[in-house]
Amino acid sequence: MEGDQGAGAVPAAVLAAASRLIGFEIQFGPFAVAQLRLIAEMHALIPTGQIPDLRLYVTDTLGNPYVEDEKLAQILQPIARSRRETNAIKRGEPITVVIGNPPYKEKAKGRGGWIEQGSDGRGAPLDRWMPPAEWGVGVHAEHLKNLYVYFWRWATWKVFGTGLHASTGLEETDKAGIVCFISVAGFLNGPGFEKMRDDLRRSCHDIWVIDCSPEGHQPEVATRIFQAVQQPVCIVLAARMLNKSPEEPARVRWHALPEGRYEEKFAALAKLSLASTAWTDCPDGWRDPFLPAASGAWASFPVLKEFFLYDGSGIMPGRTWIIAPDSESLKKRWLRLTAEKDADKKELLFHPHLRNNAPGDKHVRKAISKGLAGQEERLQPVIDDQKTAIEPIRYGFRSFDRQWIIPDARLINQPNPTLWDSLSPRHVYLTAPEYRTPTAGPALTFTGLVPDSHHYNGRGGRVYPLWGDQSATQPKYQAHDADPLGEILWPAGQGRGCDGLHRCGHGTSCLHGALRARSRAARFACSVDSRCDLICGGHRPRPRSGLATLLWRALCRPGGKPTERLPASAKRQSSLHSRRGRHTLSTGASARHAGLRCRKPKTAALESPIPAP
Ligand SMILES: C[S@@+](CC[C@H](N)C(=O)[O-])C[C@H]1O[C@@H](n2cnc3c(N)ncnc32)[C@H](O)[C@@H]1O
Repeated sequence: MEGDQGAGAVPAAVLAAASRLIGFEIQFGPFAVAQLRLIAEMHALIPTGQIPDLRLYVTDTLGNPYVEDEKLAQILQPIARSRRETNAIKRGEPITVVIGNPPYKEKAKGRGGWIEQGSDGRGAPLDRWMPPAEWGVGVHAEHLKNLYVYFWRWATWKVFGTGLHASTGLEETDKAGIVCFISVAGFLNGPGFEKMRDDLRRSCHDIWVIDCSPEGHQPEVATRIFQAVQQPVCIVLAARMLNKSPEEPARVRWHALPEGRYEEKFAALAKLSLASTAWTDCPDGWRDPFLPAASGAWASFPVLKEFFLYDGSGIMPGRTWIIAPDSESLKKRWLRLTAEKDADKKELLFHPHLRNNAPGDKHVRKAISKGLAGQEERLQPVIDDQKTAIEPIRYGFRSFDRQWIIPDARLINQPNPTLWDSLSPRHVYLTAPEYRTPTAGPALTFTGLVPDSHHYNGRGGRVYPLWGDQSATQPKYQAHDADPLGEILWPAGQGRGCDGLHRCGHGTSCLHGALRARSRAARFACSVDSRCDLICGGHRPRPRSGLATLLWRALCRPGGKPTERLPASAKRQSSLHSRRGRHTLSTGASARHAGLRCRKPKTAALESPIPAP
């Protein structure tokens, strides 16, 4: 401004900007800091001028702007006035740009205020981002219940006016504007965010994505933009001009800051411009990730899911006291529960899953219709049960963290019956992350025990059972002769149909056969058979060693979509590949060494909420 119109023009420009700038903050502390910093900034710009009144408010951004003003006592009138002003801004003042660093809080169901709840019997603004059932990603929609997503939805509602009619009945008008947030990056490719990405592509002309965490999850603290945030962080700027056709997807561009210390990232940010040639175009499918498409050999690798007839969640116990490092503790905890005479205390000790403050999935008064396959069946409510605990069994709690569980369907919120139906000493389960490619360490782990839903490394994932039955004869993987995947698993020369490989009882080439074959893969078989957990590690088997090579390739892309973020491990493939033929078979002690980032086993959390008598 000074260079353009002279120093005399600065005070008026600052005053005009101040009148257009509005700030919302819910807490008094951060509000005071923001106010002080703005005043200091303005003072630096107009040292002799009068600092204008700032339009900063202590308010809940997500609150209902259509709510009737409550009657507050005279002494609280300043608060009432502030509330009226912010509601008027939220309802009626046109806003062209929203920028922010919204709070991040997962599992924030019930904390999204009006954005999540809506009002007057109308749909909530967040409903617009709920994926339709036919997309088959509903199970992931819970990830929308995150504070930063509520803020994204609030800002798009306010700036672009999307969903205004559905949430208020008001007429929608064509609006131009910009939303720019720095936030965690889950929405860039998470399946639960497909509708959000679809809506942003329909609402905007251009979307720019800056990957601030090229190091991936839980990087070194010195590399993080926000030192306390271990999740990948991104800056996303979504821009809409007038006359946007909802049938033309926005152009999405992506750029990653350099790996290294955060100072280097800030320096790169300072140099980056929207006109830079450094941006990479992302695919334009409505629901596609806001990430560049994978390319080269990586993109051609089959996805783990393609090898299996079934994959599902592991066991979701819903209460930690039914899991322990030893079976005796479990029996004592059960005894303590059954010995409790007071019904209310018993319910508390049970730790029921609450839904709307009432016991949900499992509670002490709930009778069930079926027990877990292969385990003692008790159908009556826990409150009527005075017997000793159903005999605990070993449990695949985490990779290399084998614990015990009470196999009682009355105690497990979501037991996933498919996994129990086929459970036997002959069974093997693979667990792997879904929609995330490991940036280091193994791509999957194997276990012979029924696995927890967080078995892979404490952060969700899928379970792929090798067998559909207890005798381990009905494969759950697609490797039959008749299957085209047979060509992938056993390419010419490797003897599709088991040449050189074990042919197992049911007469087709199969994964188990391959595991037992006299190849380097046989080492898997030994460990699996002896009931050890083991991992398929960061190695590359010798080229053309058949199944092991192909599985390794496939498994390095678990759950991957063609447009998945290319992980650091893929970028490093050439160096990995040069370490020829070295298998990494790890047992518990070396899991960390192998790079498997398990969360620290929650031993403390597993300690009984029911104290041992
Ligand atoms: C990640 S911090 C960002 C703070 C500051 N803007 C910055 O960039 O350093 C998120 C801020 O949002 C505020 N906040 C959280 N929920 C809010 C809400 N419902 N309405 C308004 N502000 C909220 C928090 O108090 C916190 O100060």
